[in-house]
Amino acid sequence: MKRICCIGAGYVGGPTMAVLAKHCPEYRIEVVDTNSERIAAWKTDDLPIYEPGLLDIVKQVRGRNLFFYEDVEGHIDEADIIFVSVNTPTKTFGHGAGRAADVQFCEQTARMIAKCSTKPKIIVEKSTVPVRTAEAMEAILQANDKGVTFEIISSPEFLAEGTAIRDLEEPNRVLIGGRPTESGRRAIQEVLDIFAHWVPKERILTVDLWSSELAKLTANAFLAQRVSSVNAISALCERTGANITEVASAVGMDDRIGRKFLRASVGFGGSCFQKDILNLAYLCEYHGLPEVAAYWQQVVELNEWQKKRFVRTMLKALFNTLAGKRVAMLGFAFKPGTSDTRCSPAITIAKLLIDEHAELSITDPKALENARKDLPDARSCTFTPDPYEATRGAHAIALVTGWPEYSELDFERVFQDMEKPAFIFDGCDLLDHEALVKIGFHVFRVGAPPIVPS
Ligand code: UDX
Ligand code: UDX
Repeated sequence: MKRICCIGAGYVGGPTMAVLAKHCPEYRIEVVDTNSERIAAWKTDDLPIYEPGLLDIVKQVRGRNLFFYEDVEGHIDEADIIFVSVNTPTKTFGHGAGRAADVQFCEQTARMIAKCSTKPKIIVEKSTVPVRTAEAMEAILQANDKGVTFEIISSPEFLAEGTAIRDLEEPNRVLIGGRPTESGRRAIQEVLDIFAHWVPKERILTVDLWSSELAKLTANAFLAQRVSSVNAISALCERTGANITEVASAVGMDDRIGRKFLRASVGFGGSCFQKDILNLAYLCEYHGLPEVAAYWQQVVELNEWQKKRFVRTMLKALFNTLAGKRVAMLGFAFKPGTSDTRCSPAITIAKLLIDEHAELSITDPKALENARKDLPDARSCTFTPDPYEATRGAHAIALVTGWPEYSELDFERVFQDMEKPAFIFDGCDLLDHEALVKIGFHVFRVGAPPIVPS
């Protein structure tokens, strides 16, 4: 039986290995992580991350060919292939702080693999990394004094949270980058054979190492850029009376542009977009390309502005004071379908509202536990899973995560229980605005002028 070890049991490592185990029963897959709480949770039915369909697959394969361990070092040497899925957050210290990716976990992992290995292995970079990270990993791995050889492969993961299982089961593409040497080609083939168990061959793309690393950063940058582009136009719509939904559908019908990812919002969130664009901009600057860096940096700046703009619109509509007013925040996750709040626009919006001395009542179907951690000092916040309780007595509603269940709320009931005039700020273009106005709400939309009862 071939053995795979995955270092890092997070949002990427966990679901990826579960799907791999399902399709490759002849591989024994061991997932290891230094976070023992996380590993313990993977062994229960209360998984450490919420992802539709994940538990079913884990239940099928756990104990069959998928195993979880907190002892990282002990599982390295037996493995033929090691996937590295450790996190690569934005650096918070020293040179490049706030922009460059912190690759210390990748380096530590490479050192640990070198130390623990007595036989050759393929190392697959799954984490999103700065272009040429594989070179550093390779240098560390090859510097071992046991003569063990390693082949590095870059195979970035493109799954999005909330749809991870579908994205893994039916990926648009699987990217495999490697060295153009004989042993490099063999390693590429070996990794390709794993994915070929369920991914059609024409969707598996083999490229060189650096293109593979850069393709992941570029894909995220392009996606985030679309959101910032549509959000930029949303501001112009609000001023001119155009409607961003209509503009976006007209633009998206051009099949060179495409319909997807053109939804105006309070801004993009998530653990990847901001981190990866900042990293891309930093890399461009490092390589002497300040104009390219500035181009990408602007995508993040526009995103920050969009969040602030949302709060400024609220402030202005609520007669320029939010002090002592109750604001119900519907949603806190960075998007629907996940409990993840990393870089959620809700965090920035909540903090700006707290700065205005608003009293927040926060609700979310999945993310309340994380929301509490994100706002540890917020004495003026309450948290409840019940949207009716959150909106009771509120002066305004800020809808910041587009959970579909919020469009099913009984807004007559919500309206009756709110202070008047009752304001609703739909940051996700989710609700039936005409119906809300008929009930009596003052409705503010991202990407269209406000509508108020006549
Ligand atoms: C992933 C990718 O790996 C990252 O590069 C990408 O940009 C974002 O998505 P993700 O799975 O979301 O990261 O990160 P996280 O959920 O934080 O999981 C990483 C795991 O690695 C954590 O559980 C952490 O405990 C573990 N880890 C980290 C180790 O086991 N060893 C380390 O040295 C560092
Ligand atoms: C993203 C990439 O899609 C994925 O390929 C990569 O591997 C990791 O980063 P993720 O962050 O999980 O995935 O979610 P995604 O669906 O891309 O959404 C990111 C953010 O953009 C969310 O906050 C979402 O609400 C926002 N968004 C998305 C919009 O504001 N408008 C849109 O039209 C689409």
